[in-house]
Amino acid sequence: MNETMDKIGTKSDVDENFELFSDLSNMEHEQIVFCSKPEAGLKAIIAIHDTTLGPSLGGLRMWNYSSEQDAIRDVLRLSRGMTYKSAISGLNLGGGKAVIIGDSRKDKSEALFRAFGRFVDGLSGRYITAEDVGISEQDMEWIFTETKYVTGIPKHMGGSGNPSPVTAYGVYMGMKAAAKRAYGNDSLTGKRIGIQGAGSVASHLAGYIAKEKAELYISDIFEEKAEAVAKQTGAKVVKPDDIYTLNLDIFSPCALGGVINDDTLNYLKCDIIAGGANNILDDEEKHGDLLIQKGILYAPDYVINAGGIINIASEMEGYNEKQAMEKTGRIYDTVLNIFDYAEKHNIPTITASNILAEQRIKAVANVGTVYSSKSHFSGRKGEVYLRDRS
Ligand SMILES: NC(=O)c1ccc[n+]([C@@H]2O[C@H](COP(=O)([O-])OP(=O)(O)OC[C@H]3O[C@@H](n4cnc5c(N)ncnc54)[C@H](O)[C@@H]3O)[C@@H](O)[C@H]2O)c1
Repeated sequence: MNETMDKIGTKSDVDENFELFSDLSNMEHEQIVFCSKPEAGLKAIIAIHDTTLGPSLGGLRMWNYSSEQDAIRDVLRLSRGMTYKSAISGLNLGGGKAVIIGDSRKDKSEALFRAFGRFVDGLSGRYITAEDVGISEQDMEWIFTETKYVTGIPKHMGGSGNPSPVTAYGVYMGMKAAAKRAYGNDSLTGKRIGIQGAGSVASHLAGYIAKEKAELYISDIFEEKAEAVAKQTGAKVVKPDDIYTLNLDIFSPCALGGVINDDTLNYLKCDIIAGGANNILDDEEKHGDLLIQKGILYAPDYVINAGGIINIASEMEGYNEKQAMEKTGRIYDTVLNIFDYAEKHNIPTITASNILAEQRIKAVANVGTVYSSKSHFSGRKGEVYLRDRS
């Protein structure tokens, strides 16, 4: 460890293999902004992954990271994920994300969020923020005081409000598309479906599924949350670990990422995995392959949980709930298309989805090579021909 590193971090903070610029280049990020305002207690990082399709959009997360490197890794991974999610959803948005390093129960203040808002404003729309883990409506209101580049603000402020019901609708439609592929029709009636988590997305999802008279099981680490959903929907409550060992038709992880891993794959008995959580596969490549071997159909997480971003994107054009729901319903066809591509090329569905998202980004970037009236040219001799995609 060199002298500079000694000054900025303790030995345990520093991962000797961490190389920021090589990570940026490998993951193809455009820009990282480090935001510091010590008087307001602000340590934040904004990551802009790709703006080919439009301004980068993604939520702000406040988390007590165990090291600054963890925070950087998280924001890099999450912002890249947003590029793929928006691209596959047909949105004209790029991928971005922001993190504030701090304890969301103790370190919040008006000054902190207003300072963050000013940094967002300084990016002039290259990054548009929204709510994510650890952020409340009040925090968003403070950010909104300083910048217009905010989405997902409360309905009373002209925003689209809580995205969870729309997210749940998209997960439901994605699940039905998977049922159609696996069983030949998309009815969930009589199907044994296990939902992990009984939070915002899961509770709305359970409502949709219950209407189809499925046999529903639900778990949460807080049993009272699972009980509350059970009361509304007639689901049976199971202990958190038991959800992996049930005999199910469909498993729907709606709590955490990484739940499909080397360990859980030994127990899972289901035909389909379709859930709202982000990053469900612990290792996309490895577990995508293992799911094929086990004959389990996987509806890619970021495709079927895109209702939230679709809802937020609608806010940018003047929020219209009906249109947002209609567009979210198209997740059904997107998922079937991904299944077709995966089958044709004999690859995991998550890989197929990544390829199709990349294809859209490349194709749209290529459209920009056509000279249009949006480009500027005054005709003066020697002037550079400028292009403007706006
Ligand atoms: N809210 C949205 O619009 C949205 C959009 C896209 C993706 N997601 C993802 O969906 C997931 C759920 O989001 P949410 O907004 O419903 O969150 P939430 O916090 O309301 O619900 C999560 C629930 O999972 C429970 N939980 C945690 N660990 C568990 C475990 N091991 N077993 C069982 N239950 C457990 C929690 O107690 C909580 O009740 C998250 O991964 C989130 O990133 C949410």
